[in-house]
Amino acid sequence: AYVVTENCIRCTYMDCVSVCPVDCFYAGENMLVIHPDECIDCGVCEPECPAAAIFPDSDPRAGDWAALNAQYAAQWPNITEKGAPPDDADAWKDAADKRALLSA
Ligand code: SF4
Ligand code: F3S
Repeated sequence: AYVVTENCIRCTYMDCVSVCPVDCFYAGENMLVIHPDECIDCGVCEPECPAAAIFPDSDPRAGDWAALNAQYAAQWPNITEKGAPPDDADAWKDAADKRALLSA
């Protein structure tokens, strides 16, 4: 499966939601995750993310986010339509150490 990683936090552009053919994104307060059992590994979301936050779980850059995607996908609501990202999304893009800012 593909996984959403740290750089999504406080950016949530949601371009990924628009392109996913199986609607397997789930939304927390300030981050999205992918349900690993629903993702069909099509790969179309990866290049669509302006924050480059999406990687295959086999990519070292996915780190330990695969487990977190699985955990939160079971808790957060499904999201199937792109909404408006935060006004300050661009300011948070590529900011360092956003992990502690995740609202779960
Ligand atoms: Fe959806 Fe494809 Fe991305 Fe998986 S890889 S989350 S199926 S767009
Ligand atoms: Fe997050 Fe990128 Fe989607 S910032 S909401 S993974 S387009």
